Amino acid sequence: MLKNQLQGDADRLQDNASDLETIVDKAVSRRGFLRGGAAAMGLFLAANPLAQAVAAATKPATSKLIGFSAVRASTADTFIVPEGYSAQPLISWGDPILRGAPAFDQSGTQNAAAQAAQFGDNTDGMSLFPLSEDRALLAVNNEYTNYQLLFAHKGDVMTADDVRKSQAAHGVSVFEVKQNADGTWDYLNDSAYNRRITAYTEMELTGPAAGHDLVKTKADPTGTKVLGTFNNCANGQTPWGTYLTCEENFNGYFSSSDADIKLTAQQKRYGIKAKDRGYQWAKFDERFDLAKESQEANRHGWVVEIDPFDPTSTPKKRSALGRFKHENAALTINKDGQVVVYLGDDERGEHLYKFVSKDRYNANDMKANRNLLEEGTLYVARFNAAEGELKGKGEWVELTHGKNGLTKENGFDDQAAVMIFAREAATQVGATTMDRPEWVAVHPNNKTVFCTLTNNKHRGKKDGQPVGGPNPRINNKYGQIVRWWPANEDHAAAEFDWDLMVIAGNPDVHSGNLYAGSSNISNENMFNSPDGLGFDDAGRLWILTDGKYSNKDDFAGMGNNQMLCADPESGEIRRFATGPIACEITGLTFSPDQRTMFVGVQHPGEKGKPSHFPAGGDSKPRSTIMVVRRNDGGIIGA
Ligand code: FEO
Ligand code: CA
Ligand code: CA
Repeated sequence: MLKNQLQGDADRLQDNASDLETIVDKAVSRRGFLRGGAAAMGLFLAANPLAQAVAAATKPATSKLIGFSAVRASTADTFIVPEGYSAQPLISWGDPILRGAPAFDQSGTQNAAAQAAQFGDNTDGMSLFPLSEDRALLAVNNEYTNYQLLFAHKGDVMTADDVRKSQAAHGVSVFEVKQNADGTWDYLNDSAYNRRITAYTEMELTGPAAGHDLVKTKADPTGTKVLGTFNNCANGQTPWGTYLTCEENFNGYFSSSDADIKLTAQQKRYGIKAKDRGYQWAKFDERFDLAKESQEANRHGWVVEIDPFDPTSTPKKRSALGRFKHENAALTINKDGQVVVYLGDDERGEHLYKFVSKDRYNANDMKANRNLLEEGTLYVARFNAAEGELKGKGEWVELTHGKNGLTKENGFDDQAAVMIFAREAATQVGATTMDRPEWVAVHPNNKTVFCTLTNNKHRGKKDGQPVGGPNPRINNKYGQIVRWWPANEDHAAAEFDWDLMVIAGNPDVHSGNLYAGSSNISNENMFNSPDGLGFDDAGRLWILTDGKYSNKDDFAGMGNNQMLCADPESGEIRRFATGPIACEITGLTFSPDQRTMFVGVQHPGEKGKPSHFPAGGDSKPRSTIMVVRRNDGGIIGA
């Protein structure tokens, strides 16, 4: 045991040493600098434009934007906010949201009908839609579910109703919330607005892929009527009052009753396998059986637009935004009125995209905007940099049939094929492979855009994933945030400048290399795997993490997953909150007055870890939305 552990430690040290060597080789030694120790770090920083830029800009504890006292790293089974703030649960997985729904029962024996009327599992991206001074709708993604908690039998003996229950734990929940006179919030379980959208809600496929042969199935020969949305990760919101939910790891729900099935290169590119990730939907729902229905998977992996104000409306899958493992949809109105949506594809070595609408936003006629996401142009990012530079220029390459090699000869028959197999189209045009693009956020001044690159253990180790540019570390354990400036402050422009706003790392464990993090990282604010990302109205950048919470080795001192607040001008980053055991912090929205923050705690106690959040005692851990307020009623973060 001890021997194994020592061997493990030795291997890890060896890994770290070789990582360091590669980094130093790549970034430093070719410039003639010494290796190893503090002297090399000094020289490395001297040679490192990012470190210089951040060091020059960072004025610790002087940010005018950030006004709270930092929270320390924590391993406690609770949600901790700064002094002078409080946090209360709003709603947890299984709470009733439709009229007549039963209360949550932690036995794991409630049926599909109960779950379909309750808040779904694994709360993720969310947006708030005001109804009046003290009322609003929350639209919230329910990304996936945990069979260990969902079923008393833990998924061992699935029935048809169990599959339906699992499908009902996925999707989107819409419900009304109300602010009380004392500033606290409640959700209303009898509002006529409340709605559950699940993996079997009928939707319409729109845009270039609608009606195409590649999306027709036995159950839907029209190729336009899709059942359901699932693995809804992060989100977006339009100024015309609709919610965007993004389908991420849809591949994990498909499997094949024929174990010897021959999968196509396209299926493989999207991670589709003969075995699913344990959900077992194909046992009772044939559309998830690849041997019986090969095209159902082409109908998932999209961004879906939902009207939260009309519970009878049909959600629309927007195929013009491309099919991949969508993270969020960061929408902005460009200065000429075109709608621009930035989109990450969260997989090691996948890409960063941008959609530009054909038609323009009309601020005077919300109904006229309803189909702006139906037609437009999709682009994918190519980042350029001189060797060893952590900033540079970039370009958006168009993914339009007939252009940039997206031709029949190269396997793309038409625009529908380009959208359905957007990943392959991106490869065809030479897009940059990224360290797992997660959320994108557009600064409220509309001039800069940020994207979390969460981590990538394959960087530098797999073909096509070279170390460099915005992805500067082999075996990237910590993640970074890339920032870009569209040319002429025009989000439709083909060119941009980029740099890295922060490189996460651990300065207690590493020194003399990029694994220590950029100079705005210290042992007081360190974190790994930035994932959720969002701005408040004042331009504070909120960073939510979904990383390793072992609190040891490379992650020593980082504690549980957390939430930080950054001032993008000064570069300062301060820890705002820490989550309970084995959770991820994800999902963020604010009340219009910026005095309430809604933030999601997803999968506390995952994989059997000892969490009883939020109820404590011996209760089951439950994904929960937290309401954060300042005790003096002030603006969050100020
Ligand atoms: Fe659902 Fe990439 O996170
Ligand atoms: Ca995420
Ligand atoms: Ca993540």
